[in-house]
Amino acid sequence: MQGNFSYHNPTKLYFGDESLNYLKDEMKNFGPVVLLNYGSGSVKRNGIYDQVVAILKAAGKTIVENPDVMSNPTLEKLHEGVKIARENNVDWILALGGGSVCDYSKGVAASVFYEGDYWNQFWLNQQNPPVGQKILPVGCILTMAGTGSEMNGGCVITDAEKNFKVGHVFDDRLMPKFSILNPKFTMTVPDNQMKAGLYDIMNHIMEQYFSDFDDNTSDYLSEGLMRSLITASRIVVKNPQDYEARSNIMWTATWALNTLLKCGKSQDWMVHMIGHSVGAWTHAPHGYCLAAVSMAYYRRAMKPGLPKFVRFAKNVWDIQGNGMTDEQIAEAGLEALKAWMLEIGLPLTISEIGATTDMIPGITKGTICYPAGYMDLKSEDITEILQESM
Ligand code: NZQ
Ligand code: ZN
Repeated sequence: MQGNFSYHNPTKLYFGDESLNYLKDEMKNFGPVVLLNYGSGSVKRNGIYDQVVAILKAAGKTIVENPDVMSNPTLEKLHEGVKIARENNVDWILALGGGSVCDYSKGVAASVFYEGDYWNQFWLNQQNPPVGQKILPVGCILTMAGTGSEMNGGCVITDAEKNFKVGHVFDDRLMPKFSILNPKFTMTVPDNQMKAGLYDIMNHIMEQYFSDFDDNTSDYLSEGLMRSLITASRIVVKNPQDYEARSNIMWTATWALNTLLKCGKSQDWMVHMIGHSVGAWTHAPHGYCLAAVSMAYYRRAMKPGLPKFVRFAKNVWDIQGNGMTDEQIAEAGLEALKAWMLEIGLPLTISEIGATTDMIPGITKGTICYPAGYMDLKSEDITEILQESM
């Protein structure tokens, strides 16, 4: 294992179908006024909102509501949340929802006490809040498995006016103080979002796995997580109410992107960069945008990254490879990935999710491009990948 790193993850997790019971104890650590961020109403329809509000009220908390945090939260909504938090002197933030609500809550928490242009500072310039700046603590009650936002510092915001989606990974101070993960809460996620979440998890692992050639413990962890995800995904698409599969998916999602797998890895993340730009133009679910560009991307990465693609084929997809060349084995691995994507119902082209040819220049322009994984792509390569993904 090459590379130097430090490892620290401050997020406390409560996992399981009784995990919401721990909210009562956890709340003692935070002040009286809570900003409750949630989405467009699913938590009201499935009853989770009522359960959470009852616990907050019983503890005597003052609840400042901030509903309608949209999927792929916008800059405009970020401004609104910052304003609400400032006007109400909130002490902490509780995110109730999927990755969008968790991400958004971190964005608000970082920005409330920042005196300058937080969009410019944190997202466009990729800086962290200055040392000593006050930051609101965030807790998450996660309702959808996918992003890993429940245990990382990531926060992705879309400037809807400019069709520009950009993430910032904040330092430890913005990681949730606690996250409550109840797999039962994910059982009402719409079918398309569930599938998008499944591929998001898979791709988070792949983005870290497909880099470097050294023997690294992280890659063995990644292979185990991918195998668990593939097994559980096949169960959950047939029976969305399967608790065991849901719980494995939720746990895998957390470990896929909670700062562990990247230890000692240079990482890739270009599928995400392209996928974010596709999302900014199509507004399709995040995981769908990743799925739709993946085959074209990984076919291109296969040549420079051949040994890792052979390993992926053998250790994740059980390709035996007897009598096959390395290229054939790697190709068979990608075919197995594609077959799995089709089996669970993911889009394989960007046209399926609403992209049109005339969007390609704009999507290319919005893709943040840097040397990563096994390639050093330029914008003309991004255009080709998008054309191949049509
Ligand atoms: O609006 P609500 O009512 O909450 O409905 C949501 C939303 O429409 C719904 N949903 C969530 N839980 C549900 C439910 N519906 C019924 N029952 C439930 N239990 O599902 C829809 C999608 O939710 P969203 O939070 O948008 O999905 P996801 O968790 O995939 O988050 C996507 C956002 O996270 C960012 C993405 O770019 C995107 O903006 N990401 C964050 C990352 C991070 N923090 O590290 C990394 C990821 O790569 C990703 O970029
Ligand atoms: Zn993702």
